[in-house]
Amino acid sequence: MTSAVARIATTVSVALSGERGYEIQIGSGLLSTAGERLQRVARSGHVVILTQPKIAALWGGALRDSLCAGGFDAPDLVTFPAGERFKTVATMARLYDKLYNLPRTVERRTLIVALGGGVVGDVAGFVAASYLRGLDYVQVPTTLLAMVDSSVGGKTGVDFRDGKNLIGAFHQPRAVIADLETLKTLPSREFRSGLGEVVKYGVIRDPSLLAPNRLEVSQSEALAEMVRCSCEIKAEVVSADEREESGLRAILNYGHTVGHALESATRYRRYKHGEAVAIGMAAAACIGEAAGVTPVPVREAVIAACRVQALPVKRPSDVPVEDLIALMARDKKAEGGVVRFVLARSLGKAELMGGITETMLRAGLALQDEVCGREDGNIGEAVR
Ligand SMILES: NC(=O)c1ccc[n+]([C@@H]2O[C@H](COP(=O)([O-])OP(=O)(O)OC[C@H]3O[C@@H](n4cnc5c(N)ncnc54)[C@H](O)[C@@H]3O)[C@@H](O)[C@H]2O)c1
Ligand SMILES: [Zn+2]
Repeated sequence: MTSAVARIATTVSVALSGERGYEIQIGSGLLSTAGERLQRVARSGHVVILTQPKIAALWGGALRDSLCAGGFDAPDLVTFPAGERFKTVATMARLYDKLYNLPRTVERRTLIVALGGGVVGDVAGFVAASYLRGLDYVQVPTTLLAMVDSSVGGKTGVDFRDGKNLIGAFHQPRAVIADLETLKTLPSREFRSGLGEVVKYGVIRDPSLLAPNRLEVSQSEALAEMVRCSCEIKAEVVSADEREESGLRAILNYGHTVGHALESATRYRRYKHGEAVAIGMAAAACIGEAAGVTPVPVREAVIAACRVQALPVKRPSDVPVEDLIALMARDKKAEGGVVRFVLARSLGKAELMGGITETMLRAGLALQDEVCGREDGNIGEAVR
């Protein structure tokens, strides 16, 4: 394989202070030149690819060949099982063990390559943040969701008890390489889940992303453009508020307060992340309306944008409002036990708001049931 294979390629920069800034490279066939590209950021010839068995079988060989062609030593491969339910402290312990027992000692300069979706990226990033007090790592996202969202921004971590991403660290990657070719093996339901985060960017920042033709991604140029546009929004927000201190970065959590609670209530088994976020965005739109922040046409547009992508908007009937409210109180944006919510003021403008009372929450969730209906079947089947 040669660099001639790499076609359409575009770069988005994440500007951060010190030497922590990095580039997101987006294109088709980039895996075949990953070795060359990573030479620019690597501090050693030793690379450990961290991934899941299925992704290793599909794309691990191409990455390995490209690393060797780029002058790296034959990389070590470390895997853990797929599924959000393996995004745990127990998995971290197993991975530390595997790294410790590699024939070649992992040193501070060893480069970790996260090859996979958001679960691999979050777990591998946290391994890199913590093993030997911090290793360099790069993200090679293979799901749409990871390309447009999770591989960028340096949030790493695992779920703990009934809380999503409760344990983790901020640790920025040295580079992100998004090869759109890898999406060819991604199941369609996973692809759609990624569109949930794209709809989110449309609601919080760039309504042009919501136009049905923008999300019509059968053309690779259109897909590359959608990923680039999403990454630019994420990069801009992360550059301005890297550690979620000013409240700006929190807007990326639009739809996630209810979304995370639903994922947790259904034990991470029923919904894909982007599906839970879509139901959460419908909820946020309705709660926004109940709070007098989100105008009715905006609420309607948010729900319509999810529906166009065949993303779910109905709350499940077997998760009582009480359970949702209790889970939301643990949300990382909560302050003094009071939930703060990201609400849309208009399409393209969202804000982290305090003062959302339980009465508003209940009224919003009731409104969601009224306008969307309630889901009573197995959502996994319903949206496939
Ligand atoms: N760190 C962040 O900023 C951030 C942002 C958004 C989401 N997240 C996290 O991301 C996770 C969700 O990520 P996800 O949606 O990518 O799910 P995922 O990582 O679980 O991947 C979904 C499934 O697709 C498989 N897969 C991945 N790439 C494939 C490919 N190219 N071909 C075939 N199969 C492939 C995986 O093995 C897995 O079974 C959640 O844990 C969420 O909390 C993190
Ligand atoms: Zn998300």
